[in-house]
Amino acid sequence: MFVVVGVTGGIAAYKTVQLVRTLVTNGHEVHVVPTVDALRFVGTATWEAVSRNPVTTSVHEDVAQVRHVALGTSADLVIVAPATAHTLARMAAGLADDLLGVTLLATTAPVVVAPAMHTAMWEHAATQQNLHTLRERGVHVVGPADGPLTGGDSGPGRMVEPDEIAAAALAVVARGDAAGGVSGKARHDLAGLSVAVSTGGTREPIDPVRFLGNRSSGRQGAALAQAAADRGADVTLVAAHVDDGVLTEASRHPRVAVVRVSTAAELQSAMTDAAATADVVAMVAAVADYRVAAIAPGKLRKEDGIPRLELVENPDILAGLVAGRRPGQLLVGFAAETAADDAELVERGRRKRARKGVDLLAVNRVSWDEGFETTENRVVLLDAHDEVVADAAGTKCDVADAVWDAVVALGSPVR
Ligand code: CTP
Repeated sequence: MFVVVGVTGGIAAYKTVQLVRTLVTNGHEVHVVPTVDALRFVGTATWEAVSRNPVTTSVHEDVAQVRHVALGTSADLVIVAPATAHTLARMAAGLADDLLGVTLLATTAPVVVAPAMHTAMWEHAATQQNLHTLRERGVHVVGPADGPLTGGDSGPGRMVEPDEIAAAALAVVARGDAAGGVSGKARHDLAGLSVAVSTGGTREPIDPVRFLGNRSSGRQGAALAQAAADRGADVTLVAAHVDDGVLTEASRHPRVAVVRVSTAAELQSAMTDAAATADVVAMVAAVADYRVAAIAPGKLRKEDGIPRLELVENPDILAGLVAGRRPGQLLVGFAAETAADDAELVERGRRKRARKGVDLLAVNRVSWDEGFETTENRVVLLDAHDEVVADAAGTKCDVADAVWDAVVALGSPVR
């Protein structure tokens, strides 16, 4: 495959050397297009050595070969890593004042960007608006990850690891997604639909300082809400507890309304309200199955002895929504399962789908290091006939799109 790797001026450029190496080692023809600023971090000699191809930033070299257009038109995939806030702004505006800008305008190949910047820049309304524009054009966004940043701060803004970028980008091509360049047309196949999505983990209080909770980060539900809105739906995102920064992008989307909740009871009430007018309901939240029978009014103290917590069962919110569904409404469940292999995963999923009565169940393998607190995910989608209709892997945004593709394929809610 002919891969163009655009590198822009961020310290994470040093990690992109590994990305290029991985792509070349896997047999891809890689052309690196750094910006002038990127070369302040990693020089031409390194890019030429790892890519085994000549490197230029200028549109004025190799003019006879129309190199500036040739790179874009030859590409099967364009990756921009790191993508700085400035680069995202240039891409959103369609600026073409260097070889990378021209290449991005000339290509019809999928475009994958891996943003890297300080959290404040990432969260700025301008950056989020630019990302929104790019997503609407079909550009795929991988990350950023949460963690320590240059200068000692911490938060969302780290470029995701090179191997993760490579895997996500190759998955985009494998799925044969629509072109992601400026010429790529975003799908608007959910336009006019009202969608309710729940996300995050509920917390059941034990006393004023403690709770029963779970490891859900809220990323998959936020990605589902974001993807639905990008595809034209009006979305209510009912969010229980989520990791820092997870809701930033979705909450800035003009078609997403975020409702914050904490306990299962609050989530049930908010989802029942949202479902009353929704065409599609997706329960992605990790709901606590049990709550404490009597919440202690004051802090439980050691001197009072080891507490014996009596638990009572929470309602099954999804089963309740299915029972009270509006005519034509489509319900999607998510199942988090630990399983020894795929056969067991699908079997457990089938039993759960029947128990819940949903139209679509996304079965998600979880373990100590899978499913939770990661940007990657894999789900098997089961329809109401218990058929596996998709096996989707990639970033949580990719998985979200696969779920909406399956909803569209079911057809019923599309007006
Ligand atoms: N769910 C719900 N209300 C609950 C528990 C789960 O609405 N009290 C929803 C989840 O949002 C998800 C689906 O049901 O869409 C499956 O959740 P999961 O935790 O996998 O299943 P459980 O029903 O809790 O069954 P178990 O814990 O036995 O696997």
